[in-house]
Amino acid sequence: MGTIGVWLIGAQGSLASTVVVGARAIARGLAGRGALVTELAEVAKLPLAEFDRLVFGGWDVAPTGLLARARTMTHDDRALPPGLVDALADDLREVEARVRPGVVEGGGPATRALARSAFVGRRTSLAAAAERLGNDLDTFRRTHGLDTVVVVNLASTEPPIALGPEHQRLDRLRQAIQQNRTSRVTASMLYAYAALERGCPYVNFTPSVGIAPPALQELGVKHHVPFYGSDGKTGETLMKTVLAPLFRYRNLEVLSWEGFNILGGGDGRVLADPRHKRSKVRSKGGVIASTLGYAPHAGVAIEYVPSLGNWKTAWDYIHFRGFLGTKMTAQFIWEGCDSILAAPLVLDLVRLTEFAQRKGEAGPMPHLACFFKDPLGVSVHAFTEQVKMLLDYVERHARAARNGAKRRR
Ligand SMILES: NC(=O)c1ccc[n+]([C@@H]2O[C@H](COP(=O)([O-])OP(=O)(O)OC[C@H]3O[C@@H](n4cnc5c(N)ncnc54)[C@H](O)[C@@H]3O)[C@@H](O)[C@H]2O)c1
Repeated sequence: MGTIGVWLIGAQGSLASTVVVGARAIARGLAGRGALVTELAEVAKLPLAEFDRLVFGGWDVAPTGLLARARTMTHDDRALPPGLVDALADDLREVEARVRPGVVEGGGPATRALARSAFVGRRTSLAAAAERLGNDLDTFRRTHGLDTVVVVNLASTEPPIALGPEHQRLDRLRQAIQQNRTSRVTASMLYAYAALERGCPYVNFTPSVGIAPPALQELGVKHHVPFYGSDGKTGETLMKTVLAPLFRYRNLEVLSWEGFNILGGGDGRVLADPRHKRSKVRSKGGVIASTLGYAPHAGVAIEYVPSLGNWKTAWDYIHFRGFLGTKMTAQFIWEGCDSILAAPLVLDLVRLTEFAQRKGEAGPMPHLACFFKDPLGVSVHAFTEQVKMLLDYVERHARAARNGAKRRR
């Protein structure tokens, strides 16, 4: 195995910075491997890429650099251990130098306001922007002699878009790009298009539309690359998909499940705009009804509290009916550091996606459903059932490797 490129969309955000800090800290022996799913004994059977083989780059549209962001996360947010970012400052500067201007068109009002004029201009046509993005990936691959480049979307959440006929087939999507129909092709779609067109595996960790259009999935299959999404399952929704089966299998009727979230940081600021918030509410909202088999009253509220920085608190109130109709409640409070929860999962996804590509697999990767709030093509949301899909996948590969070794003997 040679070196693997990891190209982060939103490369200077809190999550992306934490991903880079984490990978470089592990590679340099400055941090342990706790919280990585790929380091569980059951999953570590796979020959996955080591952290010192990962080379990072990416796109962003904001002026704040990766190193400055990591420093803010250390000193203001108390999200990263003191001293770690200073110890890795040269590594972070190297990655920052590889961050290329992204596209803002279609990313929504809250992110357009962030973008610096030096980045790809609003008057650049979609076709020219797709070409430029694709060239960035090719240059990255060539310059560093990379075996592959895994592209991961970690950019701010876009407002949702209703998919239309132009999103259903690749020829129609290509036409929409050529005709510069900017209202129908969002930034996250254009990034996914550029990645898949250049044969790069793609993962959407955000609730933005990304890989959802069938036209883009057709492109991934055409170029024989694996892809998946969407929206990393890291906190409140993870708890929901663990707890909902409890109510289902004890035959306790859930009457209402209300979730109240407060968060700060760049994500919180963008989600404060109701147009952007709709994407997050939608991806968080689907898990309860599908696990219970019926739809109780289930609200999801998200509020921006700037002073929280990278920290998030969720309070969930579950009202349920027990034996003889008696009503009871369960409540939980989840207080987490957003990027610290998400970054190891992003690294897991990079390693598992690179492995899938190395094994010649293409198309959606349903075995990765346990990492997502809205897993592509998988209606099972119960966490342990999703984890079983991953473990079955690992076992299939481990068995094939054992049989291959026996045959060679
Ligand atoms: N626990 C988690 O952190 C978690 C879980 C699930 C999903 N997510 C998603 O991950 C994303 C990143 O979260 P974050 O906390 O790092 O947010 P952030 O605001 O700190 O970072 C987002 C970055 O994306 C950049 N960006 C915005 N529009 C862009 C565009 N069009 N092209 C390229 N870059 C663009 C911004 O400049 C910023 O640097 C969000 O969409 C969030 O919803 C995060």
